[in-house]
Amino acid sequence: MTPDLMEAGAQRLQKIAPVLPPGQTESGGRAAGFSRIHTPGEVDVTHGRILYLEDVNVSFDGFKAINSLSLDIAPGELRCIIGPNGAGKTTMMDIITGKTRPDSGTVFFGSTINLLDYREAEIAQLGIGRKFQKPTVFEQLTVFENLELALKTNKGVAASMLFRLDSAASDRLAEILHTIHLADSVTRQAGLLSHGQKQWLEIGMLLMQDPKLLLLDEPVAGMTDDETARTAELFLTLKGKHSLMVVEHDMSFIRTISDIVTVLCDGSVLAQGTLDQVQADERVIEVYLGR
Ligand SMILES: Nc1ncnc2c1ncn2[C@@H]1O[C@H](COP(=O)(O)OP(=O)(O)O)[C@@H](O)[C@H]1O
Ligand SMILES: [Mg+2]
Repeated sequence: MTPDLMEAGAQRLQKIAPVLPPGQTESGGRAAGFSRIHTPGEVDVTHGRILYLEDVNVSFDGFKAINSLSLDIAPGELRCIIGPNGAGKTTMMDIITGKTRPDSGTVFFGSTINLLDYREAEIAQLGIGRKFQKPTVFEQLTVFENLELALKTNKGVAASMLFRLDSAASDRLAEILHTIHLADSVTRQAGLLSHGQKQWLEIGMLLMQDPKLLLLDEPVAGMTDDETARTAELFLTLKGKHSLMVVEHDMSFIRTISDIVTVLCDGSVLAQGTLDQVQADERVIEVYLGR
């Protein structure tokens, strides 16, 4: 082959070849391992854990609300958390979401994201959604507008000024409406929904942001039996697609949705296993179930 043909060939190759950022090799360089390429900012679950807490401690005015707490959750898992009032369940969620900073301990999202390095808003952006006990939907807006707004708030002020629902987002909105059993109430004002429907709407708003991990604090409190059953159904459809951590007191609800149940007491894990296993545990009966 003549030199000019070789040169032309090399130039063509240059055009097709992907342009790698400086310092990166095609194999992924230092960030690659175990035949994966890790992208910074993405949750790395190759070690089988999406959430990892180790030896976490928090005191409030000398009172140990979280006491050497260690716990981890697998990707796609639906983990139920039970335990007496004051056990530290809500405080644990405050720590994971950056609302409360622990005095010591390790809190990781996947194997590479140290959550203690991030602020509350950044943690939400990383893909951890949280549902507080009380519904916090915008009562004056319709179901549709609430869901639409959930997308905008995730984009920041500048982007939301220019924001238009593209077709992927509208498909997603339609799918979520269905999942949260509100497809028939799209134009209904959120303030007119039942308590249970408001809770579903808020879960829908979280889902619009496609969280990898969802934390739900007493989601069925105050719901009717029918709403509770439909919420169980909803959570079972979310399992696998998202990782969920659900704090609840309603044992029949827990029975319907749970695989592994973690019992918290005095700020640490008292027992863990299937619901049958923890319900048969003498220590659990004493501090919680036997009341
Ligand atoms: N910000 C705070 N300041 C002082 N004490 C707190 C604070 N948050 C929680 N606590 C205390 O920590 C303990 C655990 O509370 P919490 O996490 O709300 O328990 P749970 O959700 O399991 O009922 C309780 O004794 C509570 O009073
Ligand atoms: Mg609580």
